[in-house]
Amino acid sequence: MESKRNIVITGGAGFIGSHVVRLFVNKYPEYNIINLDKLTYAGNLANLKDIEDKPNYKFVKMDICDFEAFYQLMQDEHIDGIIHLAAESHVDRSIKDPFTFARTNVMGTLSLLQAAKLYWESLPEKYEGKRFYHISTDEVYGALEMTHPEGVPSPFTTVASSSEHHAAYGTDFFLETTKYNPHSPYSASKASSDHFVRAFHDTYGMPTIVTNCSNNYGPYQFPEKLIPLFINNIRHRKPLPVYGKGENVRDWLYVVDHARAIDTIFHNGKVAETYNIGGFNEWKNIDIIKVVIKTVDRLLGRAEGEDLNLITYVTDRLGHDARYAIDSRKLQAELGWEPSLQFEEGIEKTVKWYLENEEWMDQITSGEYEKYYDDMYKNR
Ligand code: NAD
Ligand code: TYD
Repeated sequence: MESKRNIVITGGAGFIGSHVVRLFVNKYPEYNIINLDKLTYAGNLANLKDIEDKPNYKFVKMDICDFEAFYQLMQDEHIDGIIHLAAESHVDRSIKDPFTFARTNVMGTLSLLQAAKLYWESLPEKYEGKRFYHISTDEVYGALEMTHPEGVPSPFTTVASSSEHHAAYGTDFFLETTKYNPHSPYSASKASSDHFVRAFHDTYGMPTIVTNCSNNYGPYQFPEKLIPLFINNIRHRKPLPVYGKGENVRDWLYVVDHARAIDTIFHNGKVAETYNIGGFNEWKNIDIIKVVIKTVDRLLGRAEGEDLNLITYVTDRLGHDARYAIDSRKLQAELGWEPSLQFEEGIEKTVKWYLENEEWMDQITSGEYEKYYDDMYKNR
């Protein structure tokens, strides 16, 4: 690939997108990086304050469903790479309002694909040197059984080597070959968009890549998701709504490590391939919640564990997937990526960041969102 590139990153004002934009803008001064985002409730330009004045960065407010506008942008900016993160991303919202998820995640992705196809096919070199990289989730694979040994506390899998991990905990993981079996409207919409991306490769020869990542945590995550929501509630001594018995298992990756994987795969991944991204770090919700409580307490100078009494068991999420666990050995073996942080370090950094950035949190949680959250909570 040439060294000069014109890249659109969609959803760059969101949680993961902002980390990807920051990494690309800082690491590749020779690239033009265009952050395309509609700025929904989840998009926040304050996530990118530190890089907004860089000469290789530009923000464009646009809806990914706006085919004409995106087609024009492709032509005006000679776009040769698309890293697509824009999406509706919260499972609870998808349960209430599945249409918005189909519109953005399915129709929006299709609109980007079709505009990219028309533009790239109009060029003399066509698809050469081009890339459409679609960011997806492990949730498309459905849910795994709880196969970890009874009574073993979280984390199940912080061992460094994945072969040790497999020896200790069995082989029941999501692989790139695992059949899609989405359960929530969110994961169904993401699965559908993944299929469209692959169809554009198989039908038109578009150079596409899809990656499926596990749950991310870290700075700038919208506080409707478990970890930032709970950090903020603990700070204000508000109840912590644990769905069901808190026994569901998620596999957590520090967001910067996801962004690093995206960089590696965008540049070195093989066209038409799928890569799973994860750090072998499974936690039962209730165990991770206890770690978060104790960390917040310690950092705020409260007695460690003082806020455990905020834990409030509430009605379970409809169709709540039992366990997600990603096998990322293909990415590790073929492209040499591995997580840079152990979980203990990542969660400490994350809690510190939210406590030190109260303004960021308060700006989001005041006003409209607060009302939305209180209504959600009342209805559980
Ligand atoms: P997010 O909700 O924090 O951000 C989504 C961004 O997309 C926001 O900036 C929003 O304004 C923008 N957006 C939404 N609809 C749009 C539209 N119609 N047009 C243009 N922009 C629009 O999401 P996130 O957690 O950063 O997730 C980013 C991507 O990564 C998503 O595709 C998600 O499915 C995937 N993913 C997320 C996780 C996770 O743990 N958060 C894990 C794996 C994969
Ligand atoms: P979430 O952060 O919404 O991510 P996802 O649903 O995509 O995995 O939720 C993570 C886990 O935490 C999930 O099992 C649901 C649970 N959860 C709660 O118990 N309480 C909450 O208030 C939230 C938001 C999530």
